[in-house]
Amino acid sequence: MPTFETLYMGGFRKKWRGKAPLSLNATNPQPYTLEELNLLVGADILKMDSDLLLGYNSREGLPELRNALNRYLYPMLNPQNLITTAGGNEAIFISMHALLEKGDKVISFTPTFEPLIKTAQDIGCDVKLLELNEHEGWKLELDKFEALVCDQTKMVIMNFPHNPTGALIDQKTLDRIVTLCRKHEVWLFSDEVFRGLEHSADLQLEPVAEIYEKGISIGVLSKSHGVPSIRVGWIASQSLPFLQRAIEVKNYLSICNGTIGEKIAVPIIESSSKIFENHLDLLVSNLTILEKLKEIYPHFDFCSPKAGCTVFASVNEDSLVFAERLINEQNLMVIPGKAFVTKANAFRLGFSYDDFETRIKGLVKVLDQGRDL
Ligand SMILES: Cc1ncc(COP(=O)(O)O)c(C=O)c1O
Repeated sequence: MPTFETLYMGGFRKKWRGKAPLSLNATNPQPYTLEELNLLVGADILKMDSDLLLGYNSREGLPELRNALNRYLYPMLNPQNLITTAGGNEAIFISMHALLEKGDKVISFTPTFEPLIKTAQDIGCDVKLLELNEHEGWKLELDKFEALVCDQTKMVIMNFPHNPTGALIDQKTLDRIVTLCRKHEVWLFSDEVFRGLEHSADLQLEPVAEIYEKGISIGVLSKSHGVPSIRVGWIASQSLPFLQRAIEVKNYLSICNGTIGEKIAVPIIESSSKIFENHLDLLVSNLTILEKLKEIYPHFDFCSPKAGCTVFASVNEDSLVFAERLINEQNLMVIPGKAFVTKANAFRLGFSYDDFETRIKGLVKVLDQGRDL
């Protein structure tokens, strides 16, 4: 396999660029305008001290940002357990390159966000895939996981709340995964970029970095906070040697985030709960619209998500054929299942948009035609 093979999603988007101005492919909540964000945060976030020094920022991240992350999102850790990155993808790239080597055995659950698997494969790891059980609400089957994980496993990769299905495991399942990882001394890489977007607060999991000494949690402002434009992500871990190694890898990439972006990130992190709550109103009401469609069109199906802004839906035809038909006939883009390294015949549909009812008109037309297939 060539290194940095084009990601399926990137190739799909490129193929149809300009043909689908209406998209239903976002994983992030409706992004905020600067004005909306200022109102939520209660401050003018672009207002900076005029003597702000515009030199290189700290490689670990601005101390006040690491303090805010610690206080508001990872209270059981310390600021030195957190380093910042240029977005979520850099957090994935840095973490995996810091820990993995060619030939290492890795386990990942699928369907999944492609870079979570492809990054490890690019390093030359032997990645075993464990499909979540579609017929049981994308359930993670612990017995199958237990049979797979062993002393030779170097890392387990997971992502809950889950892209693309919106599935979540419960805390008991997470605790069992941690117990098994601890038994076999395995790194547990946990992509938690949708943490905070649980549709019901009691579903929220503890961050893996807080409960496991070889746990790694990553987050980013792009997803639960809904501001991808501020390219600030982070890695949390109790392992200081791992974080030190991650900084060495980061030296080959962004070196450090921009100071201005990290300054802006501080009040956003401090307002996390308010921001999450605000997104949830729209997500829950848009999901109700989708659930109604499911009732009207029996050939359109999905497991109700427990978190996030996407469903992994199926119809009575191949997901790629359906996705291309939506683009050709309605200028509307969803992402076919192949982008998520899975055998499941489904497509990802995002429901975070504030004009969702307008956007899904095209979907409704195609579902109408599909009744008789
Ligand atoms: C599960 C998951 N992790 C990480 C990322 C990357 O985040 P970013 O786009 O901020 O780099 C994404 C983006 O879609 C994602 O869905």
